[in-house]
Amino acid sequence: MPLSAPHESVEIQLGDRSYPILIGSGLLGDPGSFAALPAATTALIVTNTTVAPLYAQTLRAALANRFRAVHVLELPDGEAYKEWQTLNLVFDALLGHGCDRKTVLFALGGGVVGDMTGFAAASYMRGVPFVQVPTTLLAQVDSSVGGKTAINHPLGKNMIGAFYQPRLVLCDLSTLATLPPRELSAGLAEVIKYGPIHDMAFLDWIEANIDAMVARDPAALAHAVKRSCEIKAEVVGQDERETGLRAILNFGHTFGHAIESGLGYGEWLHGEAVGCGMVMAAQLSQRLGGVDEAFVQRLTALIRRAGLPVVGPALGAERYLELMRVDKKSEAGEIRFVVIDKPGSAVMRGAPDAMVREVLAQCCAKS
Ligand SMILES: NC(=O)c1ccc[n+]([C@@H]2O[C@H](COP(=O)([O-])OP(=O)(O)OC[C@H]3O[C@@H](n4cnc5c(N)ncnc54)[C@H](O)[C@@H]3O)[C@@H](O)[C@H]2O)c1
Ligand SMILES: [Zn+2]
Repeated sequence: MPLSAPHESVEIQLGDRSYPILIGSGLLGDPGSFAALPAATTALIVTNTTVAPLYAQTLRAALANRFRAVHVLELPDGEAYKEWQTLNLVFDALLGHGCDRKTVLFALGGGVVGDMTGFAAASYMRGVPFVQVPTTLLAQVDSSVGGKTAINHPLGKNMIGAFYQPRLVLCDLSTLATLPPRELSAGLAEVIKYGPIHDMAFLDWIEANIDAMVARDPAALAHAVKRSCEIKAEVVGQDERETGLRAILNFGHTFGHAIESGLGYGEWLHGEAVGCGMVMAAQLSQRLGGVDEAFVQRLTALIRRAGLPVVGPALGAERYLELMRVDKKSEAGEIRFVVIDKPGSAVMRGAPDAMVREVLAQCCAKS
């Protein structure tokens, strides 16, 4: 059955592991969305207790003709559950239902469900096919694309995982209607990030359409998801395993991760911390000579208009530095930052601690 819902498509080019990202409204309920998947008898939809009542039955019905059995597993909701005991519930379900190595896993939810389901797919019987059905803006523009999968460890976020590509990513824009406003803003942080690091024309477009996106205008969100996926596809196609270029997607993340872990995970959303982290990274870029004051002000104003915080919590500069030294990108204790070397282009580099302290003094609340 062909896909009937109107949609756009972006291809991730990775040789024989290439796959399409389909973007449109109503895709997850359209059986045609799944036409190109490999034949299998069983599917397992992995979702959570928040998303399941909203979308699981629609997806299940759309898969009913293709698979002899479609099982649904509801995990508890939250970043705190992105760990091995919850991951094991996926293996319990797969084994309990007698799922074979052709079983297709469907990750229905935000980045937490996507990262965990992807890792389960990478390891069950040494690898089964999986499909990303992202239902948050953050997952649609970032986490569902590119094949990074992981769970957290008490000693570090995303520390246990694998590179494992999905067969298909289905960005159903209609799911964004039920997203809480804070989560929408958090996703906008990852949309904004693509501008300064790669595409200044996209930054202009985001500026002109930020109010429309905050108001969930479908056409504006559709373009934001498509252009974000195109940029991510280009970067991942060149550097799947993050040996170089892919690291620029972490713009704002070195500072952001410090905020997240310094406050305790869950206090600020990931996208909120990244929004504020981009303000800090832009300030650092200015001090290193890559951008001017006007650029920093422009980006800061945009992040604020997206509903994101632009003033960092008062953790103290030494605590920030300590947290950033354990970041995955650090090498031999030297903190590596993604900085803008000219508008629309980013590089990874170190910076003197004294300069980072100045940035933190300027960007953080006074304790
Ligand atoms: N793999 C990657 O490349 C990558 C990239 C960025 C982030 N991540 C990971 O993604 C995770 C964050 O993802 P997230 O921001 O999507 O968070 P999330 O998965 O926790 O989702 C946010 C909240 O929204 C709820 N939700 C999801 N879809 C909904 C909908 N349509 N309507 C109403 N509620 C809905 C969820 O149940 C949850 O409560 C983090 O664990 C992060 O490490 C991974
Ligand atoms: Zn991020």
